[in-house]
Amino acid sequence: MAELDFKRHRRLRRTESMRALVRETHLRKDDLIFPIFVVEGEGVKNEVASMPGVYQVSLDYLTEEMNELTRVGVRSVIVFGVPNEKDEVGSQAYHEEGIVQRSIRLIKEEVPSLTVIADTCLCQYTDHGHCGIVREGDIDNDESLQYITRTAVTQAEAGADIIAPSNMMDGFVTAIRKGLDEAGYSQIPIMSYAVKYASSFYGPFRDAAHSSPQFGDRRAYQMDPSNRLEAIREAESDVEEGADFLIVKPALAYLDIMREVKDRFNLPLVAYNVSGEYSMIKAAARNGWVNEQEIVLEKLTAMKRAGADLIVTYFAKDAAKWLDE
Ligand code: PBG
Repeated sequence: MAELDFKRHRRLRRTESMRALVRETHLRKDDLIFPIFVVEGEGVKNEVASMPGVYQVSLDYLTEEMNELTRVGVRSVIVFGVPNEKDEVGSQAYHEEGIVQRSIRLIKEEVPSLTVIADTCLCQYTDHGHCGIVREGDIDNDESLQYITRTAVTQAEAGADIIAPSNMMDGFVTAIRKGLDEAGYSQIPIMSYAVKYASSFYGPFRDAAHSSPQFGDRRAYQMDPSNRLEAIREAESDVEEGADFLIVKPALAYLDIMREVKDRFNLPLVAYNVSGEYSMIKAAARNGWVNEQEIVLEKLTAMKRAGADLIVTYFAKDAAKWLDE
């Protein structure tokens, strides 16, 4: 055999300590952002049917939830509100006493060490379930920007550390940046859902947040899954408009896009590991078809390998615990 000429890659895989020595990608607790759904009312802790282990909680349970997060070592949370009242223009989204504004104030008071990210969108708050203002059956982009900006400013007033607009209207970064600056929040960064596809992987989220469109779909504002070059244009304009972070969403089916965005733009990149990606693993794990812990850590690591610096994931608490083992 000595005369054969080939490379011995297995030399670096012989032992666990050798493998650790050459490991290229590391998942850290500080990479993780936990999404939380806050509902109105008292004493509510509802498990979302399509997302086992994910709960909608009322404000009186929120502190407990946040303390648990910090206990396992996760330090960032993204807040989604589920309001009781919806109307045509989503007024609960920008109400000073809206569910998200109250949640943010409470978290900043009770658990100030957490970084609180506000998701800025109208779809949970509009009776038609679209992410913008509907006029004559169409979404009015520029009018929507006014409402979205108001929402961002009230979230900053409530104490949000980061504003994360997910509505996919054109110009939202420019509009929100201007609004925040004029209101005295020039220090608050924008984490833009820059590349957000019109995806079937959001199904379970819409159960959790009661945000399904009541007519039509989101394909006139969210991106076509077939497109790659368009993702670069979307990211490019958000960078020009002053975004501080870029999100690619969903994550698993879009790792190629993540890599490309990371290579082209010098901003922290966030992967959104969405609800459908969570539910599929949960379902398979419950059937004993996959090893949940291994598969979750593998896929989160894959997102980092694809270029993500941070990951929004419903598995954040579990992953943090597993990282300690
Ligand atoms: C709101 C929003 C959605 C998600 C995050 N923000 C839903 C949507 O666009 O329909 C999806 C998150 C998930 O599926 O986990 N616009």
